[in-house]
Amino acid sequence: MNERRHPMSDADRKWMRRNGITFPHNWKEMPPRSGSTGYIVDILLYEFFGITDLDFSHFDGLQILDIGAGSHLNRAQAQPTFARTCAGNGARVVVTDILPQSEPDARLFDGVVTGDLITPVLQGRFAQLPEFAGRTFDIIHSSGLINFIPDPMFSNTLDALGIKEDSFARLLTEQAGSMLVKNGVMYLGGYLYRKIDNELKLTKSFD
Ligand SMILES: C[S@@+](CC[C@H](N)C(=O)[O-])C[C@H]1O[C@@H](n2cnc3c(N)ncnc32)[C@H](O)[C@@H]1O
Repeated sequence: MNERRHPMSDADRKWMRRNGITFPHNWKEMPPRSGSTGYIVDILLYEFFGITDLDFSHFDGLQILDIGAGSHLNRAQAQPTFARTCAGNGARVVVTDILPQSEPDARLFDGVVTGDLITPVLQGRFAQLPEFAGRTFDIIHSSGLINFIPDPMFSNTLDALGIKEDSFARLLTEQAGSMLVKNGVMYLGGYLYRKIDNELKLTKSFD
C-alpha cells in the first residue's frame, strides 16, 4: 500500500481490515474470491510496460479508469477488486458503476462516477461526463460488464432496450478509447486494445 499517495484514516483502515480488504503487491497475494483480477492485472502490466515480474508497484502514479468497477454494496463477486488493487499500489483510479461506492473506497479512489452508463454511451457523451474533464488514462479496464462474462443486469437492460451487446460494446470501446493516452492500453471484457498513432488497435482477444 502506498501510504504517501493514499493516506487512510485509522477508521478506514479498520473498516478495510474488518471487510477482508487487503492491498496485494503481487499476484500471489490476491485475496480469495478476486476472480480473474490478478490475471488481468498481469496482462495489463505486461501490455503497458512489457514486464512480467508480477510486481504491482508498477501501478504507482498511473492514471486508471475502471468501468463497471463493482461496489462494496454489491455481491461478493462484484467488489471493486481491480480498482482497489491499483489504487492500493499508488495508481490514481476513477471508477464508474451504477451503484455508489462505500465511503472508504470512495476516499481511496481518485474519482467516482455513480450512475447508469448505458444512456451516456448511447448518446455519445460518455467521455464528456464531468468527472472525466481534463483527464486521460494510461490504462482502462472493464471486466464482468460486457462481452466476455457479461453482467446479467446489464445484459437484461440492453435486451429490454433492444440494443445488441456488440453494437453497445463498439460505442463504449470508441468513447472510452478516446480518453486513452498514446500507447495506453484498454481491456474491455476480454478484448485488449492499444492506442497506436492515435488509433485504437485490437491487440489480443481472450474469449
Ligand atoms: C459483475 S460486476 C463486475 C465488477 C468488477 N468489475 C469485477 O470484475 O469483479 C458488474 C458491475 O456492473 C455494474 N453495472 C450493471 N449495470 C450497470 C449500468 N447500467 N451502468 C453502470 N454499471 C452497471 C454492477 O453494479 C456491477 O458492479
